Amino acid sequence: MKKTIRDFDLNNKKVLIRCDFNVPIKEGKIVDDNRIVESLETINYAINKNAKVILFSHLGKVKEEKDKKSKSLKIVAERLSELLNKSVVFVPFTRGPELESAIDKMAPKDVLLVENTRFEDLNGKKESKNDFELGQYWASLGDIFINDAFGTAHRSHASNVGIASNIPSGIGFLIEKELKELSILDQPNRPYVVILGGAKINDKIEVVSSLVKKADKILIGGGMAYTFLKSKGIEIGSSIVDLDSLEFAKQTLDDYSDKIVLSIDAKVTKEFSNNSNYKVVGINEMENDDNGLDIGPKTIELFKSELKTAKTIFWNGTLGYSEFSNYADGTKEILQFITSNDVNATVILGGGDTVAASKVFGYKDKVTYASTGGGATLEYISGKNLPGIDIINNK
Ligand code: 3PG
Repeated sequence: MKKTIRDFDLNNKKVLIRCDFNVPIKEGKIVDDNRIVESLETINYAINKNAKVILFSHLGKVKEEKDKKSKSLKIVAERLSELLNKSVVFVPFTRGPELESAIDKMAPKDVLLVENTRFEDLNGKKESKNDFELGQYWASLGDIFINDAFGTAHRSHASNVGIASNIPSGIGFLIEKELKELSILDQPNRPYVVILGGAKINDKIEVVSSLVKKADKILIGGGMAYTFLKSKGIEIGSSIVDLDSLEFAKQTLDDYSDKIVLSIDAKVTKEFSNNSNYKVVGINEMENDDNGLDIGPKTIELFKSELKTAKTIFWNGTLGYSEFSNYADGTKEILQFITSNDVNATVILGGGDTVAASKVFGYKDKVTYASTGGGATLEYISGKNLPGIDIINNK
């Protein structure tokens, strides 16, 4: 059993909390604040226990100096202040005298948010490579570390594993809830059907080989499908693909042809835009400049026929580019179907985009559980260890 935030006396202590505030931002606005909302219970608990609350998170990937502008957590501090109904001090640095003096000035119940931990990646990938000195430095800013960033638990970063290696640590309420809810998938009622889509392919594709052993069927659509289709020699035009994973995809299909169901048609366009012309084509009819941005109606029907008798459904990754209304049908129709009376299954969603789509289309409250994790959830339910949780002290 891992220690939790309840196992510590937080009174007057500097409590470092790692959250996952990696939220989608478009045109300078937070599109979906679900992950911030889900962090509130732990933050409010620490405030009520008289802690000085110091928050850490990453936001996106920071590869060049110019990324800093669009990847600042300032916007998150503003939203968090509204949600907590209390001012959150934002420190636009990840280290140094300004950060240290802002922490020195904190009174119990104050909340401070440190700038995006991945700004440290500009300096030799210190955050993402779990640089020892960085973890030690951040740990030196507090007395207790609480990891509540479930979505980041599959990463071994300085801001989770690094800090936890240096001071007493526990998990927060969100991680505790995620582990409890996702345990349904340890022994799922069968048939257990997994739907996989989305665009972060290289992060997720390897998980298919372990998931396929646990699930009765895996339905693969969205961006994830094209790597598998190409590995079968099918023309996929300019659709998203992970060329490094072709061999893996081919082998997985050979080994589990009875379990993996791929899309059979697609909505394609020549330009990546919601306003361009599109058409529906059979999966063998794509031209070399076609970009598949949604599954087609035959795939929707095929997937429904597989889902109809499911007793447990886990879904990660949208089935098309659902932010564009012309390419949202696959995701919308399957969401509608699995939450309707036609299906009698436990439904668990994972991943920022999938959960955001379920919210936008009005199905989030109809599923059994919506996890805040994407890659982390996939790795966890496929049986992998999550370093961000493994490192936390046991009771
Ligand atoms: C996620 O969105 O899955 C987590 O926040 C981890 O982000 P990452 O894939 O950029 O490490």
